[in-house]
Amino acid sequence: MEVIVVESAEELGRIVADAIQHMLAHQPRALLGLATGSSPLPIYDELVRRFERGELSLASAGACLLDEYLGLDADHEQLYRTFIRRVFVDRIDLDLQRLLGPDVRRADPELACREYEEQIVAAGGVDLQILGIGSDGHIGFNEPTSSLASRTRVKTLTAATRGDNARFFGGDLEQVPKHALTQGIGTILEARHLVLVAQGSGKAASVAAAVEGPLTAMVPASALQLHAHATVVIDEAAASQLTLVEYYKQTYRDKPDWQGV
Ligand code: F6R
Repeated sequence: MEVIVVESAEELGRIVADAIQHMLAHQPRALLGLATGSSPLPIYDELVRRFERGELSLASAGACLLDEYLGLDADHEQLYRTFIRRVFVDRIDLDLQRLLGPDVRRADPELACREYEEQIVAAGGVDLQILGIGSDGHIGFNEPTSSLASRTRVKTLTAATRGDNARFFGGDLEQVPKHALTQGIGTILEARHLVLVAQGSGKAASVAAAVEGPLTAMVPASALQLHAHATVVIDEAAASQLTLVEYYKQTYRDKPDWQGV
């Protein structure tokens, strides 16, 4: 796993946007996996700036959602499809037809999960998946004890996750859905490149457990240790509980120019 410690949200955005721009230059039809939440926002803002300057296009690319709430009205502004359109997709030239996500309007959510897996495979699989990490170590909505081989399915959100996300619902915990559809850990591990981003001291413990702790279903993000191409981009605060932080910094400083993220 490559760990990159950045000095600012802007630098985090630039580094991940560089990787995405490089991918699109070689694979204009790439499928980009999108996470919601606050952590990836600097990436989306940087990609939008580059699009506006004519430096990149997603006109031929596809994108897909990592997860989606269950039980919100179709016009709810916190539906992840709506959120991701607002913060990213509607600001660039991606064709909305190629924004994939689980169909939460389906009467049978488990069927929606199976169909979503099929859609991702039919689109060629995810080339680069952006991930955030929960304070409880979740990725997507794979909460602690999720099988490391899990597929897309319905998950019950932990009290910790609902509490963390209440800020998006005006601070009202009651408004936060209790369930979500999420790509499974096994599904996520099939993406060709995983890029996990985190900022702030609230993520320090879960980042340390994921990067340096044992591989365990109690810390779903530790599954990144199984992936051959996983990159973790974090600020100093999120890196503050890592034991080998100086080694990660040295490795990144001394990285040969030819080796991209
Ligand atoms: C969102 C998602 C979640 C978040 C995580 C961190 O699609 O899958 O795993 O990435 O909860 O959220 P933020 O970035 O808001 O701290």
